[in-house]
Amino acid sequence: MMDYMPTAQTDISTMPRGGPRASCLDRLLETDRQEYLDRASERPADVARKRSVIRALDWTGETFGNHERFAQIVLDEVAEVPDPKILELGAGHGALSRKLLDWHPTARLTVTDVAPESVAAIAAGDLGRHRRATVRRMDATALDAEDGEFDLAVFALSFHHLPPQDAARVIAEGTRAADRLVIIDLPRPPAPLHMLRLAAMLPWAPLVPFVHDGVISSLRAYSPAALRALAESAGAAVELRGGLFSPQVAIASRR
Ligand SMILES: C[S@@+](CC[C@H](N)C(=O)[O-])C[C@H]1O[C@@H](n2cnc3c(N)ncnc32)[C@H](O)[C@@H]1O
Repeated sequence: MMDYMPTAQTDISTMPRGGPRASCLDRLLETDRQEYLDRASERPADVARKRSVIRALDWTGETFGNHERFAQIVLDEVAEVPDPKILELGAGHGALSRKLLDWHPTARLTVTDVAPESVAAIAAGDLGRHRRATVRRMDATALDAEDGEFDLAVFALSFHHLPPQDAARVIAEGTRAADRLVIIDLPRPPAPLHMLRLAAMLPWAPLVPFVHDGVISSLRAYSPAALRALAESAGAAVELRGGLFSPQVAIASRR
């Protein structure tokens, strides 16, 4: 079957996460519910819950090798650049930037997140003192950066947090401020497989904040067709990689 090719006329504002031609079942596997990480509340209990999700992401990234896998994807993309300037968006805990600084002797990292408490926690740690790192707050949908200021921008496990119009804005902004934008995110499985994944997670969701956010993330993950439509709407070229069981990777660049 021919893969769906979006056009500039595709209306992304109402696009399902499964893409413009998502099946009826796939369209049901969506939610507008917020993850704990998305809640703006400053109540101590809510902040503590958010921090627990961020710590769990860091732990799973370290334990299952995602920090290293994501760092390798980024370094492969800047292999030809002598002293790459890299912007990490939605850094959360900063482990990807830390790995990039460890592995590349001259890379410069700007480590950012939209959440002030995450930025404060990263700035208070080793990255805040690293001579090749700058830690600051930045919203991925409205980058405070010059055109072409960075060789590469990376947004890991964060893209699904944004509704389609904001997600397209991230692609437009990322490819404006950097030569290449690397989006690494959860894959969206075909609907029957997706239901199995959700069924395995759901019993734990009320008990474990990380699983609660994982279920919502899964329901909000974009399919390859949706990523193509978002890139088209942002006027960017995109190359998609990844599979059913590994994170999907989109490399976007200016046309
Ligand atoms: C699931 S965490 C991912 C953290 C880390 N990148 C990782 O791979 O584990 C999602 C992160 O995206 C951030 N985020 C959400 N919306 C954002 C936006 N508009 N701009 C920048 N970061 C955003 C959240 O604050 C959170 O830290």
